[in-house]
Amino acid sequence: MNQVVAETIAQLEGRKYNFSAGPAALPQAVLEQARDEMLDFRGEGASIMEVSHRGKLFMQVAEEAEADLRELLKVPANYKVMFLQGGARGQFAAVPMNLKGEKSGADYINSGHWAQSAIKEAQRYLDVNVAADGKNASFHTMPKQSDWRLSSDAAYLHYTPNETIGGLEFPFIPDSGDVPLVADMSSNILSRPIDVSKFGLIYAGSQKNIGPAGLTVVIVRDDLLNLGQSACPAVLDYNLQASKNSMYNTPPTYGWYLAGLVFKWLKTQGGLEAIDKINDRKSGKLYSAIDGSDFYHNPVDVSWRSRMNIPFTLAKPELDATFLSEADKEGFLYLQGHKAVGGMRASIYNAVPEHHVDALTSFMSEFERKYG
Ligand SMILES: Cc1ncc(COP(=O)(O)O)c(C=O)c1O
Repeated sequence: MNQVVAETIAQLEGRKYNFSAGPAALPQAVLEQARDEMLDFRGEGASIMEVSHRGKLFMQVAEEAEADLRELLKVPANYKVMFLQGGARGQFAAVPMNLKGEKSGADYINSGHWAQSAIKEAQRYLDVNVAADGKNASFHTMPKQSDWRLSSDAAYLHYTPNETIGGLEFPFIPDSGDVPLVADMSSNILSRPIDVSKFGLIYAGSQKNIGPAGLTVVIVRDDLLNLGQSACPAVLDYNLQASKNSMYNTPPTYGWYLAGLVFKWLKTQGGLEAIDKINDRKSGKLYSAIDGSDFYHNPVDVSWRSRMNIPFTLAKPELDATFLSEADKEGFLYLQGHKAVGGMRASIYNAVPEHHVDALTSFMSEFERKYG
């Protein structure tokens, strides 16, 4: 079936253009497969939600998902991949509790809302050195790495590669020397190939590029597993969870299964090299529409712009409500910007088809023609 026909069917089924920041759009093909195997999973006579996480059936699903994720991200053998609960915010606490070791503090890069939240949580467990801060530039850009004040004895360096609310994305992987680099990749994991060996630890809430909410993926280098504090809750203890293959407590089985379908879908798209190009094109089209008009505006420094979350404002903010209500009538969902930034935001994760971005840019130019 070609894409246009598939899309027409999608719309007949009442599905719209979804630009949600998270929980976010999932690939149509994944939802259809999940629907088709909902009642009777692989001939078991039960759904995958209704079986033991320790049984053969779920173990197979779990192992396939991990293998596919490892393949997509080319995760080296000396890294554990875990499928946990607690969300990215759970990791804001788990990271300092597990990685502090004998050190007294850690370095954090403050790039906006989510970095700030990670810093606030970490301050409960260790001394935080804010090694670079984008606050004075309203988080529209960041100081260059040569100006960062990194400490040589930090337990780790934490950063947020993509700020979901501000729409700022690091155009490089920071160099942390011998200090383990930790990344909150919640909103841009799997959007491009990355060199996992540059990181000590990567974590991501699932509800953007991985699957439904409720699952947290943690990828951690083996040598960082034994530094945990005794006060660390067992469910957040990397060493314990890694030794139990993420099954110390009951994992979020349905989210894990659905993530597995998303990983398989990514492989059918051509893997991360192919998705990277598509993400370049999709974001390029939306930024061109914004930059090519005096009516729309994105404040982020061009080289720091996110390819996943694109905030924009209207030259006449009094038209915001009209923009949103007309967009809603045309089937464009969740374009309202976060209250911290205002205006609009289009989140265009992997699962948002390119022609949905095309539809949005057409709507935007039509809106400008009418009201500009
Ligand atoms: C970059 C980033 N970090 C952390 C979070 C918080 O994630 P959770 O709600 O899974 O704790 C979000 C949520 O949107 C996010 O975008």
